[in-house]
Amino acid sequence: METRKYFSFVWLVYVILCLYYQSTSAVVLLKHFSHSRGSSKSSSCDFFQGSWIYDDSYPLYNSSICSFIEGQFNCQGNGRSDKLYLKYKWKPTACELPKFDGLDFLRRVKGKKIMIIGDSLSLNQWQSLTCMLHATLPQLNFTIKRTGDVSNFVFQDYNVSLILSRNAFLVDLFKEKMGRVLKLDSIQNGDAWKGFDVLIFNTWHWWLHKGSQQSWDFIQKGDQIYKDMDRLVAFKEGLKTWSNWVESNIDPTKTKVFFQGISPTHYNGQEWNASKASSNCNGETQPISGSMYPGGPMAAATAVKEVISNMSKPVTLIDITLLSQLRKDGHPSIYGINNNVTKTTNGNDCSHWCLAGVPDTWNQLFYALLVDQDY
Ligand SMILES: *[C@@H]1O[C@H](CO)[C@@H](O)[C@H](O)[C@H]1NC(C)=O
Ligand SMILES: *[C@@H]1O[C@H](CO)[C@@H](O)[C@H](O)[C@H]1NC(C)=O
Ligand SMILES: *[C@@H]1O[C@H](CO)[C@@H](O)[C@H](O)[C@H]1NC(C)=O
Ligand SMILES: *[C@@H]1O[C@H](CO)[C@@H](O)[C@H](O)[C@H]1NC(C)=O
Ligand SMILES: *[C@@H]1O[C@H](CO)[C@@H](O)[C@H](O)[C@H]1NC(C)=O
Ligand SMILES: *[C@@H]1O[C@H](CO)[C@@H](O)[C@H](O)[C@H]1NC(C)=O
Repeated sequence: METRKYFSFVWLVYVILCLYYQSTSAVVLLKHFSHSRGSSKSSSCDFFQGSWIYDDSYPLYNSSICSFIEGQFNCQGNGRSDKLYLKYKWKPTACELPKFDGLDFLRRVKGKKIMIIGDSLSLNQWQSLTCMLHATLPQLNFTIKRTGDVSNFVFQDYNVSLILSRNAFLVDLFKEKMGRVLKLDSIQNGDAWKGFDVLIFNTWHWWLHKGSQQSWDFIQKGDQIYKDMDRLVAFKEGLKTWSNWVESNIDPTKTKVFFQGISPTHYNGQEWNASKASSNCNGETQPISGSMYPGGPMAAATAVKEVISNMSKPVTLIDITLLSQLRKDGHPSIYGINNNVTKTTNGNDCSHWCLAGVPDTWNQLFYALLVDQDY
């Protein structure tokens, strides 16, 4: 049941909040990180500024080889017939991304435990990484074990664990007498994140949910209890609590910390000047060309940058927002479910991403950052 609840996310059509605003603070942060770390090889290249170009060698794998793929991401398997969306490569303006080399990846992280923590967009990323590795190295044995909210994918030959920990808010959600309370300044969840070699965090989408999709009854900050509050403000408070957890619990010589940036949705065609005002991701077959998203930056992504840039411990942002914004064609839409009979609008997923697809690029960037930082 818990699984079902978690994945019912797919069914949600968001009301896109008007969270977009012009921001000048969204300047290149990679530079900042490189300087503060002082060990980057190609700090002149911003991996996250670029555009999508057609590349015949794509996709990186055929989803049919990935026998363990979640039905909700298996668009081709669910009857999506257009294939152009599979053929795009992310090209940073100032450089080429290193080609994803699964063997080199496993050698770099040999004997290590990588934990990906967050909502179903983290599931999307984890699933992509496991499919990419399995597709390049099909001869390697692997095991997948799920216990509660934690899934562990192991390549025994390299003693590498790729762990997914489902966690929508990072901060704590407690059941109390008065109801379910989201505690913005409590993060006991963090006890489960200790002792790993690499952590990749993500949170955002569940902060927006309202009505039956909202998973809390109250928000608490200090002694104050709120029935509701500005969701972006709450999100930022939660992020600050997470950043304090990193500051007090992470030894950077033992654990490398990443934040997977905010993944955008495409429920509102007006953001990309679609010809029909009612357009959404459904029926989109090509990315937006160029390096500019007409809808502008996301306020949540700006908040993530602000909080991370304030930290003293190194956290690397995998800044997926702009490149994913350009991929209005990359969502499952009506092919997100293992059922093509009920093609109704509430089964139109413009939030997650098809696999193969956009999250493969998130992982190419993750790999590129590991290479760049000599991990
Ligand atoms: C994936 O493989 C299947 C089975 O070999 C094939 O029918 C299908 O066309 C392939 N899909 C793509 C996108 O190449
Ligand atoms: C989708 O529909 C087609 C034709 O109606 C059918 O052949 C196919 O089996 C269906 N696929 C799934 C995954 O239900
Ligand atoms: C595998 O890695 C773990 C640490 O993640 C280590 O404790 C264990 O000894 C390793 N096992 C082998 C067989 O290398
Ligand atoms: C994979 O697992 C099978 C069954 O446990 C075993 O026979 C085989 O030797 C393993 N292959 C590798 C490459 O480790
Ligand atoms: C989108 O439409 C707006 C207003 O209609 C216009 O100002 C803007 O230039 C358009 N953007 C693109 C990328 O076409
Ligand atoms: C940044 O840190 C300062 C000093 O600790 C704090 O006052 C401020 O609220 C922080 N800003 C953000 C966005 O976290």
